[in-house]
Amino acid sequence: MTNTNWEIEAPRKKLFIETLGCAMNVRDTEHMIAELSKHQDYDTTETMEDADLIVINTCSVREKPVAKLFSELGTYNKKKKDGAKIGVTGCTASHLGRDIIKRAPYVDFVVGARNISKISEAVQTKGTVEIDINNDETTYDFADYRQSSYRCSVNISLGCDKSCTFCIVPATRGDEISIPTEIIITEIKKSVTNGAKEVFLLGQNVNNYGKNFSDKREKSSFTKLLQEISKIDGLERIRFTSPHPLHMDDEFLQEFASNPKICKQIHVPLQAGNDKVLKEMRRGYTKKWFLNRCEKIRNLVPNVRISTDIIVAFPGETEEEFRDTIDVVEKVKFESIFNFKYSPRPHTPAQNMPNQIEDKVATQRLQEVIDLHKSHQDEHMEKYLGTTMKVLFEDLKPNGEIFGFSDNYCQVFVTGSEELLGKIVDVKITKVNRTSLKGEVL
Ligand code: 5AD
Ligand code: SF4
Repeated sequence: MTNTNWEIEAPRKKLFIETLGCAMNVRDTEHMIAELSKHQDYDTTETMEDADLIVINTCSVREKPVAKLFSELGTYNKKKKDGAKIGVTGCTASHLGRDIIKRAPYVDFVVGARNISKISEAVQTKGTVEIDINNDETTYDFADYRQSSYRCSVNISLGCDKSCTFCIVPATRGDEISIPTEIIITEIKKSVTNGAKEVFLLGQNVNNYGKNFSDKREKSSFTKLLQEISKIDGLERIRFTSPHPLHMDDEFLQEFASNPKICKQIHVPLQAGNDKVLKEMRRGYTKKWFLNRCEKIRNLVPNVRISTDIIVAFPGETEEEFRDTIDVVEKVKFESIFNFKYSPRPHTPAQNMPNQIEDKVATQRLQEVIDLHKSHQDEHMEKYLGTTMKVLFEDLKPNGEIFGFSDNYCQVFVTGSEELLGKIVDVKITKVNRTSLKGEVL
């Protein structure tokens, strides 16, 4: 009998994807990998030279990565396999759009940060540019792919409803829309069934959740969402980024403190310590409010770790005004600081403000924050020596070490085997470094 049914399967194509920027971009990359695998036959590769499709998922929050994009595209174009396609996605795709193809005509398509669901179509038509920042993907059913088996990142809102004068994000990710609660819950439950222990909730201002939905449903709140999510059986940890200091009301802080599933690490982005600068940044809070919120967090949650973002040398920031930033750093003693020199961005009011500050001054201020912060980091880490932490183990290192994160997001290394992966285990801390800990499993 002859078999007429068999077919020769075409080999699957290879996708090389480079991700720049924040946790939102990392999640967008997972969505693209999933969509291209399900609808277009692509599997990922770590080797750019082998790829049939090269994608750069860009960030535009500061100037440097944008400048780097075109040199990187040039390199990829030279080294890529014959016939391989190149795509640019993410925030720089949103704000430069077709200009990317004008400057680098070998680029096949451009897909902005709010248009990830269109990736499978874009890849098929040379010259596609999809950059509508009002595109609503809140109910789009993305194919499923996750880099970590134990942690799932889940978007809870898209875009941003603020208009901080230094920030390009509202122009690249559009207005804020919250994702319906039932969609978020279903997505988390599915991941938990597949082995996730921790959820990482993502949005530009997570604690503004529930104010703007795309359908006419009742408003909700981030506190309510956290309460709903914590009911999910099998889910052990909830983390989120980024909350906005303005929306840190007492109800939210109480929930953060008392809900045992919520990890005791919180990002409270300061940006600047001086009231006049904060006003010019249009941040909506004062130094006093910021300090009050951090004090309250530290009082309610003794083992909390607080991280922050700081921008030095915002246009017009005087030496005296900068002292207020230093004063907040001294008072709060952040466990971790993401520290930036102000970078003028297109589509933002601050780029046209008078008194842009020279780089030499910005560098000095940045260094002062870094030096002060180092002493705080050491002080915090030393406290952990000899204590016991609950660690969720995530990955093996080639040297036989295995690492994971404590509830308050310290990176902890132990000597151990694969059996620890995905488990939450008590670890006694035996050595402290500035940014990580070592310990023994109890
Ligand atoms: N210059 C420097 N830093 C910036 N950020 C956002 N826009 C700029 C800019 N124009 C920083 C902020 C924000 C973080 C994600 O990036 O601190 O919280
Ligand atoms: Fe940018 Fe401000 Fe929105 Fe954050 S809150 S994304 S800094 S506009």
